[in-house]
Amino acid sequence: VPREEVADEASARWRAWYARWDRFQESYVPDREAQFGLMLDYVALWWRNGAVRALDLASGPGCVADRLLRRLPDAEVAAVDCDPWLLEMGRRALADAGRVEWVDADLREEGWTRRLPHPAYEAVLTTTALHWLSGDEVKRTYRALAEVVVPDGLFLNADIMPTGSPTVGGLARSALERWRAQRAAGPDGEHWQTFWGGAGQVPEFRDLLAERARRLGPRRPLRPLSLEFHRDALLEAGFREVGEIWRRHETAILLAIR
Ligand SMILES: C[S@@+](CC[C@H](N)C(=O)[O-])C[C@H]1O[C@@H](n2cnc3c(N)ncnc32)[C@H](O)[C@@H]1O
Repeated sequence: VPREEVADEASARWRAWYARWDRFQESYVPDREAQFGLMLDYVALWWRNGAVRALDLASGPGCVADRLLRRLPDAEVAAVDCDPWLLEMGRRALADAGRVEWVDADLREEGWTRRLPHPAYEAVLTTTALHWLSGDEVKRTYRALAEVVVPDGLFLNADIMPTGSPTVGGLARSALERWRAQRAAGPDGEHWQTFWGGAGQVPEFRDLLAERARRLGPRRPLRPLSLEFHRDALLEAGFREVGEIWRRHETAILLAIR
């Protein structure tokens, strides 16, 4: 088999897995594509010339970076994650992969911002990720971000951020769980078990997935931190304003201005 054909097959495989990643995430995150669009609306409205330097934080395969470069072709973006398999997926599958600076860094490590290609960013965006960090780790992350976001710069976090009284909050959690169950059972549903099980069957992925497991260890999702926790931590870290810009059930987007 000619070498180019083998390379084409490998590229097609990575692109197919990137598409599958989106389907998998869409099964857990309501209106995921609309959330990306909304976050970029705010970035585009605030930085009107569009020539922003942006960070896709805990990027996975660079889902925010991908949409950002399409929407704002003059932007520059760095994608930060500690999962070697997802970073490789981004490098191999994104249309604009060559325009993304891929940064292998763990947000839990002191000094991770020193690995960034630039000292300052106009916008930092993160989706479905910070729930992996403890409260102290989130606070430390926000303090580190306050150092790299320029004055007037934006931080946008889309994630589970409960709010409201116990009963109202409980209803929002149940509503999200019901939405996920319906979505998973539907034709476009992809359960996390079938996704990770399927990836584990691909010989080409074996080494990167083993490295991923070694780095991340056995993890349990932590109890989600409230909207108020995130808001207070951002203000304490040095952001001057914080507000929710979107919500569906427990899923919300928080915007902070440095
Ligand atoms: C559910 S995925 C979301 C990825 C992407 N933002 C998206 O919306 O598709 C969560 C991501 O957070 C990353 N992550 C979790 N803990 C991390 C840490 N301590 N440092 C860097 N990345 C981390 C994971 O590797 C994973 O890529």
